[in-house]
Amino acid sequence: MSTYSPFPKPTHLISIADLSPGQITAVLDRAEELKQLRAEVYAAHTNCNTPAPLETMPLFGRSIAMIFEKPSTRTRVSLEVAAAELGARGMYLSSSELQLGRGETVADTARVLSRFVHGITARVFLHQTVETLARYASVPVMNALSDQEHPLQILADLMTIREYFGGLRGLQVTWVGDGNNVCNSLILASALMGMEMVVASPPGYEPKSKILEQAMQIGRAPRVISDPLEGAKEADVLVTDTWISMGDEAEEAERLRIFGRYQINQALVDAAGEDAIVMHCLPAHRGQEITDEVMDGPQSVVFDEAENRLHTSKAVLEWLVGGRRL
Ligand code: CP
Ligand code: NVA
Repeated sequence: MSTYSPFPKPTHLISIADLSPGQITAVLDRAEELKQLRAEVYAAHTNCNTPAPLETMPLFGRSIAMIFEKPSTRTRVSLEVAAAELGARGMYLSSSELQLGRGETVADTARVLSRFVHGITARVFLHQTVETLARYASVPVMNALSDQEHPLQILADLMTIREYFGGLRGLQVTWVGDGNNVCNSLILASALMGMEMVVASPPGYEPKSKILEQAMQIGRAPRVISDPLEGAKEADVLVTDTWISMGDEAEEAERLRIFGRYQINQALVDAAGEDAIVMHCLPAHRGQEITDEVMDGPQSVVFDEAENRLHTSKAVLEWLVGGRRL
């Protein structure tokens, strides 16, 4: 079988733990530079309707396949805009419109797309799907959310935390709610970057032991508790996410009943103190896991966090698809 590839050994981003602490720091440093550059240079060029200079487009002429099995606002738009501003074409591919939706295998899809494009991002139901894509693709594959992880989100979260606190090490991050995919990536990132993490989840909805063990192997597992108020005390960062992730819809009624207490509201923010920040990967279900008062309040950084999806995705694409040295 021919093994043609412009990238002989692609590096993939399937789990946040695929990155070393040094690589994460380098991605965040570059994302900060790109944020600055976009404000100063790129905006000046786009505002006067002239094309951005080619040196800001290191991916000129490349294409990136973006597979989505689930809906998306931030991930899709930030990746497409990131690709465009780097000079690449981002190709949105709904899995239901691909032959994948009619039974073509994930492995064959990976092999075929690798003959056309220079990178693949994939938002999937089963983590195994993105792992299989990576196994068979000869171009870099990036996990754009699976049932197990959301590494691109967590890079934006780390960037946002760093912007507010000037660093990561030693901060206490308290997760309130479901021990889900975003929580898993944050647990691993905290272990890698030296943050103390507390997870306050209803019994039965804690992070899986596999993730806790992996975090322990990296160097520190989170403290898992059931009382959100206890978790909020001492928190520098309060984080939550939906009680009902994509794929969990059949459990909606039960989850709404169980999760009521796991809401970031003003009382919880007050317990953390006025220097704490509040994060949410979005989309938010206002009135469920977070109140309007908190989401729109002075301690919320959720829209900075959303914006940082763009800058961190650019840094990842430049590195993995463009081969830029970190
Ligand atoms: N945070 C996040 O991944 O949002 P989307 O589902 O809109 O992409
Ligand atoms: N945990 C959520 C994140 C959405 C960005 C989900 O998987 O639906």
